Amino acid sequence: MRAMRLRPLYVTTSIPIMEVISTVAELRKVVDAKRAEGLSIGLVPTMGALHAGHLSLIERARAECDVVVVSVFVNPTQFNNPDDLLTYPRTVEADCQALSAAGVDYAFIPSVEEIYPEPDTRRFDLGPVAEVMEGAMRPGHFNGVAQIVSKLFSFVSPDRAYFGEKDYQQIAVIRRMAELEGFDIDIIACPIIREPDGLAMSSRNVRLTPEQRAIAPSIRRVLVQSLEQARSRTVAEVEQFVTDAINAIPGLDVEYFTIVDSLTMQPVSDWSDAASGIAVGCATVYCGPVRLIDNITYRP
Ligand code: PAF
Repeated sequence: MRAMRLRPLYVTTSIPIMEVISTVAELRKVVDAKRAEGLSIGLVPTMGALHAGHLSLIERARAECDVVVVSVFVNPTQFNNPDDLLTYPRTVEADCQALSAAGVDYAFIPSVEEIYPEPDTRRFDLGPVAEVMEGAMRPGHFNGVAQIVSKLFSFVSPDRAYFGEKDYQQIAVIRRMAELEGFDIDIIACPIIREPDGLAMSSRNVRLTPEQRAIAPSIRRVLVQSLEQARSRTVAEVEQFVTDAINAIPGLDVEYFTIVDSLTMQPVSDWSDAASGIAVGCATVYCGPVRLIDNITYRP
């Protein structure tokens, strides 16, 4: 039998190169050109210190849009606590590597002066969605989020923008801001990504000591236990159960646990009050000095 001669196989792959952009003018120029080509644009706003949660938003954006823009900007106007702003993790080099590996087309990494050449004095009428929970605990926080996200929306004019459900209330606030400002952008809410032990991924997790990191997953464990309670107990009883069970764990301190309607963010006193049909229990818990947030969905 004649030996078969195999022809060498040359595989050519075109590796897309990510462009890092630092000015608004350049950002507008590249996205306008892509839009003129008829391509759809997805925006993933972040404050950097990227983790698998962010990467899941990017993956979804890549699946649904032709061009993906990710912004990395620690927005000072949304920090009501100066220490939180100072200690917020900044890992720009690692972020760029992760974004490039994730197939992002444009990373927008501006300076504070580029975004705020002058102070942003806009006050958004965000209404009841922004008045409770984070809105009550962090005065000015949601107005700052509305300032930066509205700027990003107007620079990029994306077809879709992607946000994680860990910041559940933030999504309701951004939808309200988009409605107020007349942005025709699909706001896509993406599920929380968790560590194998259940802790919701967050850029702030890196600030946990090994001891704090070991107890932090208890927040999720108690929230999951509350699902069973919700079958037979009142809203107030479930709120009390979660608060007491988390506070009973040394090192954890509940700031609030409130069960709200999934759309209006208004606290419910009876399960049937959730007009959307879905109630969400939102928890903010201090683990040492680190403020962790998480939530769980009840379908009464
Ligand atoms: O969720 C965040 O990381 C920030 O609040 C956001 C939406 C990027 C605005 O700075």
